[in-house]
Amino acid sequence: MSAEVAVKAYKILESEDFRILQVIEAALENHEFAPKELIVKFSKFSSDEVDFRLDKLHKLRLIRRTLRPYLGYTLNYAGYDCLAINAFVKAEVVEAFGKPLGVGKEADVYNGLTPNGERIAIKFHRLGRISFRQTMKKRSYTSGYTHWLFRSRMSAEREFEALKLVFLKGVAAPKPISQNRHAIAMGAIDGEELAKWTEIPDSEKVLREILSNIRKAYLRAGIIHADLSEYNIILKPDLHVLFIDWPQYVTKDHPNAKQLLTRDVENIIRFFKRKRMLNADVYNAIDYVTGRSGRLFLERI
Ligand SMILES: Nc1ncnc2c1ncn2[C@@H]1O[C@H](COP(=O)(O)OP(=O)(O)OP(=O)(O)O)[C@@H](O)[C@H]1O
Ligand SMILES: [Mg+2]
Repeated sequence: MSAEVAVKAYKILESEDFRILQVIEAALENHEFAPKELIVKFSKFSSDEVDFRLDKLHKLRLIRRTLRPYLGYTLNYAGYDCLAINAFVKAEVVEAFGKPLGVGKEADVYNGLTPNGERIAIKFHRLGRISFRQTMKKRSYTSGYTHWLFRSRMSAEREFEALKLVFLKGVAAPKPISQNRHAIAMGAIDGEELAKWTEIPDSEKVLREILSNIRKAYLRAGIIHADLSEYNIILKPDLHVLFIDWPQYVTKDHPNAKQLLTRDVENIIRFFKRKRMLNADVYNAIDYVTGRSGRLFLERI
């Protein structure tokens, strides 16, 4: 679901509406649906006021209602989006929203403007909806499953962590600005995913820059992207690259680090090979990105 609903709804929400959304959010820590009674109690509003607010939020599709086994409410993605947007606006991270930059299964990325008129990107993480009942069942024997809301938040936290680590070390990645709930604010970049470029001018320079950034992330920040491909690399109009989409990063001491690093490198080399641009030896490339070799050999096709 697109963040469009939230971006529109946000403008007509009042502080009382946010209060209700927050109370529902807090109740979801231990309820599948926040009972109406609980909302009244914790919001400290009158029952009539709460009814009015719930009705408004429901019409705006920010919350979902159930009647059984009791009258209760849960947040929709859009409701959760509104809470994150409100936090960013209050913190003066963002002032206005613009066009969507990318809408997909796992994330919605929006253009935003800071109060200083700087362009930024806001990414809302969307992790698959496992129903809460399923969640509770699975929770009893594995700890890996949690509500979509917490999983989405965790994903944003991880991505923000990764961006801070790599950006500080000079890896080509968007500038991390802020994180709240399942959303991160970062520097906006111009350009297209590598996959969308039909022709890549000076492909050797581009491939060298990509591998040199994998190397920097590994040697200086000690991390591996672990989902690197032509879809998560932006080639800017100035022909420099930026790596995006970091939530699944691992550190170099992760048990699968070697495999994940190899897969990242292979994905990239395969792309350049398939496009009949360049050939590279995966072993040499791995030695290069891990610092065992200072030299990278590329072959034109
Ligand atoms: N900082 C940014 N500046 C500009 N555009 C961005 C930025 N970050 C992401 N995008 C755009 O949004 C798209 C999706 O971002 P990202 O790859 O981080 O999410 P995803 O989890 O892969 O989402 P999806 O489910 O859509 O594949 C990118 O392909 C890119 O076009
Ligand atoms: Mg992606």
